[in-house]
Amino acid sequence: MENLLSQINNLKEEINNFYSDDKNPAEAFRIKFLGSHGSVKSLMGEMKNVAPENKREMGKVLNEFKLFAENKWEELKTTTDDRAPATDSIDLSLPGDALPIGSRHPISIVRNKIVSIFQRLGFAVAEGPEIEDDWHNFSALNLPENHPARDMQDTFYVSQNPAWMLRTHTSSVQVREMEKGKLPIRIICPGRVYRNETISARAHCFFNQVEGLYIADNVSFADLKQTLYFFVQEMFGKEIKVRFRPSYFPFTEPSAEMDISCLICGGVGCNVCKHTGWVEILGCGMVHPNVLENCGIDSKKYSGFAFGMGIERITMLKYQIKDLRIFSENDVRFLKQFESAV
Ligand code: PHE
Repeated sequence: MENLLSQINNLKEEINNFYSDDKNPAEAFRIKFLGSHGSVKSLMGEMKNVAPENKREMGKVLNEFKLFAENKWEELKTTTDDRAPATDSIDLSLPGDALPIGSRHPISIVRNKIVSIFQRLGFAVAEGPEIEDDWHNFSALNLPENHPARDMQDTFYVSQNPAWMLRTHTSSVQVREMEKGKLPIRIICPGRVYRNETISARAHCFFNQVEGLYIADNVSFADLKQTLYFFVQEMFGKEIKVRFRPSYFPFTEPSAEMDISCLICGGVGCNVCKHTGWVEILGCGMVHPNVLENCGIDSKKYSGFAFGMGIERITMLKYQIKDLRIFSENDVRFLKQFESAV
């Protein structure tokens, strides 16, 4: 009798915990517990072994238990019904639930536009790692040991291994392409870069760049100017004015910075252009012979130009955005104002 009671208890627990991912859990339950080979049935069969003086009491317990199992079955039948409606009650002609369409990030829109303009001039896209070594980010680019750009203030070094750093510009990708030794080279390198700068309306510790590189024989500064001139006209319209100012970069000689006439005030002078009528959009120059030689290219035979621009800056000018922090805040109210994704 003790044995039978403990079997009943075990089975009760099994019934309480019953779960089936069968299409029809109620039927699975019936077969397992109540059917002719079910465990409740076989427990009832034990009655014949119960001592006569206990039969009355045991019969009562068993009957109650059977009722408990049957109730559970009834319960399952009703829940099953609304959980898994019969297949033929699904109306397949009903329209589906539409998924809301997102929109592309303004930085992506502008990056794609920049890339497509240069692709039309025959530039191919090249990409590289965001964690770089000193050679690709600095040394190969003719940045002397003591150059301020190497200062810990500007560069994020990897703490486990200070020989590694987050790239500070995508010029590192250009080094990697030059080292492949396949000439001519005509590439643009879009990508995210990192600098240890105080975050403000005009600067961030990470931003996006597109850098370009063209190396062949007889590439001249005139080619550089014409290429960039084509780019700004395609990007901002034919009315845009351009000027080049002499500048300095360790990896180019001569070097220049390019300004465009201020899109906000049309060149009259405003806060954005600091009342000069001009805004700087990129750095450029003829690739320094040392850089070519560092990358195994004969600087007597080949020449080239390079340029680099920040995508955030171009986007701010194009859409008249005054604070670049908004690009990384993920505020949907801001992000959805731009061209839709499709
Ligand atoms: N690498 C420079 C920067 O990140 C941009 C640049 C590229 C300037 C190529 C000249 C030539 O500021």
